[in-house]
Amino acid sequence: MASAVRAARMAPRFSVLVRPAVARTTPSVCQRAAFSVSAGRFKSEVIKETEVPVSVYNPDAKGVASGNADHFSIPVKPRQRAPEPVVEEDEEVVPLEEKVYSQLPKTLQKMSVHGKVIIITGGARGLGNYMARACAEAGAKAIAIFDANQELGDESAAELHQKTGLPVSFFKVDVRDGHAIDAAVKNVVDLYGTPDVLVNSAGIADSNIPAETYDPAMFRRLIDINLTGSFLMSQSVGRAMMAAGKPGSIILVASMSGSIVNYPQEQSCYNASKAGVIQLGKSLAAEWAKYQIRVNCISPGYMDTALNKVPALDAQKKIWKSLTPQDRLGNVDDLNGLCVFLASDASGFMTGSNVIIDGGYSLY
Ligand SMILES: NC(=O)c1ccc[n+]([C@@H]2O[C@H](COP(=O)([O-])OP(=O)(O)OC[C@H]3O[C@@H](n4cnc5c(N)ncnc54)[C@H](O)[C@@H]3O)[C@@H](O)[C@H]2O)c1
Repeated sequence: MASAVRAARMAPRFSVLVRPAVARTTPSVCQRAAFSVSAGRFKSEVIKETEVPVSVYNPDAKGVASGNADHFSIPVKPRQRAPEPVVEEDEEVVPLEEKVYSQLPKTLQKMSVHGKVIIITGGARGLGNYMARACAEAGAKAIAIFDANQELGDESAAELHQKTGLPVSFFKVDVRDGHAIDAAVKNVVDLYGTPDVLVNSAGIADSNIPAETYDPAMFRRLIDINLTGSFLMSQSVGRAMMAAGKPGSIILVASMSGSIVNYPQEQSCYNASKAGVIQLGKSLAAEWAKYQIRVNCISPGYMDTALNKVPALDAQKKIWKSLTPQDRLGNVDDLNGLCVFLASDASGFMTGSNVIIDGGYSLY
């Protein structure tokens, strides 16, 4: 009943913000009363226009010679719910050609990852795979996928290479294995040069396990993959950047669960692991600024990836959606733009940030 408690706590101050969707899933007397009284009062104060008058002052417009503006009205359509974006499973991946890059304005050039060597963990599938595709489209020189899943990793690297013509390698690496990571990073340096970017997306989730019955071995395993794995990868890639004296960007995929407690499922370990990732990111950012290595976190909300495509989660997904202002789960490519931005020089003054990208979930 955490959300009911949360909504009830908010009701006296922010009663108009209580969403009907929340009331639908966890109705409480407090919510219903607050919504009907406040929303009714504010609704009657809003003047709804059917047309908006416009005045345009434009040298090409009629009437400007005489100093007059062009006047007209635009109709106002009633607000409609935006359709959910559809992601094609097998879209094209179009690499940024040198000719196109050279014609881009300076701002867009800076927002690309032109010429950068990029390592992406967990890139065999899901969010990591889509961020790898995005980096390929944004001008990466070469991409190295680190993942524990041999079959999927090979398949996705071959596919990305085939679609883009870019050099793409797959390294079967478990992010808990520091020695394997070091060997693979060294190999990337030999193949393509020192990496400019690390995107750390490998991770696992356990949920619907009450803390009082959580198996300590499972707890340790998850922390080892999500938190220690993020550290080992950052340490290895950070050392390579330092050794080469090369500035770099490290992007850790945390989660909104590092800042909020999810509802209704109990998942103390996952939440703790992601809070650790966020604090790890901030600590590394402070320590490594002197080496011009930036470290930032992406904290996604609920995303519609294989991690969540479990029939047992179907009922909970309805609750998650109803608690998300955008009324949907994130698409598998919804982190792409932010990933490219954080990897690019356009975010050069940004380090130690944790960017939540959750359709508004954590606003409530
Ligand atoms: N899907 C979501 O709703 C969601 C929300 C917030 C945060 N995240 C985080 O985003 C990241 C990616 O999630 P996803 O939904 O794409 O998951 P996913 O399961 O689709 O992909 C994760 C990838 O990580 C790899 N991996 C797992 N353990 C590994 C290990 N020990 N060593 C190396 N590789 C390993 C897997 O093989 C897989 O390819 C994770 O860190 C996850 O916690 C996901």
